[in-house]
Amino acid sequence: MTDLPSCDFTTGAVRHRLQFGGGRGQDLPKAVGMKNGLCPTIIDATAGQGKDAFLLASLGSHVTMIERSDKMHQMLADALIKAQNTGGIYAEITSRMRLLHGNSIDLLPTLSADVIVVDPMHPARKKSALVNGDMQKIQALVGTDPDQRDLIETALKTALETAAKRVVVKWPTKAERLDGLPAPSHQIIGKAISFDVFMVGL
Ligand SMILES: C[S@@+](CC[C@H](N)C(=O)[O-])C[C@H]1O[C@@H](n2cnc3c(N)ncnc32)[C@H](O)[C@@H]1O
Repeated sequence: MTDLPSCDFTTGAVRHRLQFGGGRGQDLPKAVGMKNGLCPTIIDATAGQGKDAFLLASLGSHVTMIERSDKMHQMLADALIKAQNTGGIYAEITSRMRLLHGNSIDLLPTLSADVIVVDPMHPARKKSALVNGDMQKIQALVGTDPDQRDLIETALKTALETAAKRVVVKWPTKAERLDGLPAPSHQIIGKAISFDVFMVGL
């Protein structure tokens, strides 16, 4: 049986990345436009374990996280409380994170930020499972996201209507892109994970 995903900003991989990660030189901060000391406001439309949101908040951005799974949302809420109670840098970083419960397809049009990040559950790969480790645990809890195209289209539409500057879609490098979406303005391609960046209103 697959374990439940863990959600804790004060221990393990999240803590390690905070101490030893590459800061703004990492692909996600680059994708959201954090170079030159900028701290854009961000909506993370697919919060999951909150790792990406925590990274961005640790670099100074205010991040609104949206999660629709009841269980994942509860774990995230508990993790935020634990970080606040731990104090120090964890309380400081999580004070820049707010958590909403619901479907981003409904909530995004009611919000605004400089950047919208979308990281849906990754599609299954044909020969071997594309998802592994943490992703496998999240998938066991929340299933797949068959409405991911709707979500990305909603993010792009919301960005246009609210003057957001960009939409960033995180996707496995080896997976096929979804049909019918516009081409990204640019991509940051990593070994396993890539970021499609859609610059809006340029
Ligand atoms: C791949 S995980 C995200 C992992 C996350 N980036 C992290 O750093 O931990 C996808 C998460 O997004 C959530 N999700 C997917 N579609 C959503 C939607 N339309 N609205 C809200 N949450 C959604 C899923 O329930 C799942 O928890």
